Amino acid sequence: MATERECLCAKNTPKPLPTVEPADQKVKEALKNLMLDDDVLKRIMTKFRQDVEAGLKKATQPTSAVKCYVTYVQDLPTGSEKGRYLALDLGGTNFRVLLIELCETHFEMKSRIFAIPKAEMVGPGDKMFDHIAECLATFLKQEHLDTEPISLGFTFSFPCQQVGLTKGILIRWTKGFQCSGVEGNDVVQLLREAIARRGDIKLNVTAILNDTTGTLMSCAWRNRNCKIGLIIGTGTNACYVEKQQNAEFFDEPDKGSGNVIINTEWGAFGDDGGIDFCVTDYDREIDKNSINPGKQLFEKMISGMYMGELARLIILKFTKDGLLFGGKSSPLLEEREKFETKFVSDIEGDLQGVYTKQKPILQKLGLGHATDADMMNIRFICEVVSRRAAGLVSATLAALLNKMGEPHVTIGVDGSVYRFHPYFHGLMMHKISELVDPGRKFDLMLSEDGSGRGAALVAAVAAAKDEAVVTN
Ligand code: GLC
Repeated sequence: MATERECLCAKNTPKPLPTVEPADQKVKEALKNLMLDDDVLKRIMTKFRQDVEAGLKKATQPTSAVKCYVTYVQDLPTGSEKGRYLALDLGGTNFRVLLIELCETHFEMKSRIFAIPKAEMVGPGDKMFDHIAECLATFLKQEHLDTEPISLGFTFSFPCQQVGLTKGILIRWTKGFQCSGVEGNDVVQLLREAIARRGDIKLNVTAILNDTTGTLMSCAWRNRNCKIGLIIGTGTNACYVEKQQNAEFFDEPDKGSGNVIINTEWGAFGDDGGIDFCVTDYDREIDKNSINPGKQLFEKMISGMYMGELARLIILKFTKDGLLFGGKSSPLLEEREKFETKFVSDIEGDLQGVYTKQKPILQKLGLGHATDADMMNIRFICEVVSRRAAGLVSATLAALLNKMGEPHVTIGVDGSVYRFHPYFHGLMMHKISELVDPGRKFDLMLSEDGSGRGAALVAAVAAAKDEAVVTN
């Protein structure tokens, strides 16, 4: 298995970025408002920095779009954590249960993926937690671990107001979830109750964390420079290491490093109209049709849950305007969410001027009548959509790097868009370098299973602390 360091090196020699042009200049002209220049990105940086500062302060957090929740994770792992931990990773349409054995030099991991039926994502909350507890029990029994108590780190990738390491109040669902009876409640408690209702497994939930925190912890285990955790997957978000004295909501006595990890929840950036200057009609359409209109604007402009749909809306409009496919659409192109985010990555993965991956995609969508010029234009549309996403994320990252003021920061990254898009890494390296203050060094480190191992590490650090308290 490759280590993160190997992944980092491989990833840090990005493929040269293609310089693509559409077949038709009218297509380029029609996409102008999605092509953000550095002046626009710098405006975004300024606004984001203001929102982060506001989110950290008690007086201004209620009106700030970026909430900057404190995580109560203060200590990064030392690399010497040991023991066997369970992790539960909930944040998308699947959830995973992981058993992780941390040894001094390496770790071993077994995991199983369970689906969450769509109906459960929007049904009663206790039903969903019962389903999770049932899957946990299945896994523990399969591993013959159902008799001894085991510590569990719970990665719950939604905005939570934490009141300590084991209490997280869900502020609101994101990414297509809408279970009733959970918002405003402590999700650790809901999980514990579901486990207790079964009565057949012994689990000690020792920490709740966001996937960004899991990613940061996981990368920091190997790389001490890692101080930002980033997700660009179904959703997008970042956390970073802040000084406890700057985080007014951190109300525990100053301990350890004097730092605390802040979960920015930057997906909600722009929900107050603060970045309306770069929001397009396509973004508004996506927002209007979503399960959570008016919320997570920034996320909807970037992440994997929406990227394909954004491309579809553009392609459909251009078809209707006669710029594509001779004006001839197809029933599938007219249907919501039929153009998957994966298609964007695949289409851009074709060598320039070759449409090996694109052709079958268009065929599948009933657009077999596409000409080479159409395919060149479609590729250009995908490029514009993914470049805008990479540009937006780079702007907020550069703003964080400038705020942190550290000479060298490694950014731990996970998520399907970052992993599978052929140029996302390169686009980000390039754009962050252009936007960050001169002299600041950074790198992007692909996390190997960030959320899962990170949860085990947080549980391990918490367990080590408890032991220290007991023995002191
Ligand atoms: C959404 C969630 C956030 C999570 C992100 C990435 O933005 O609100 O908590 O970190 O998705 O999964």
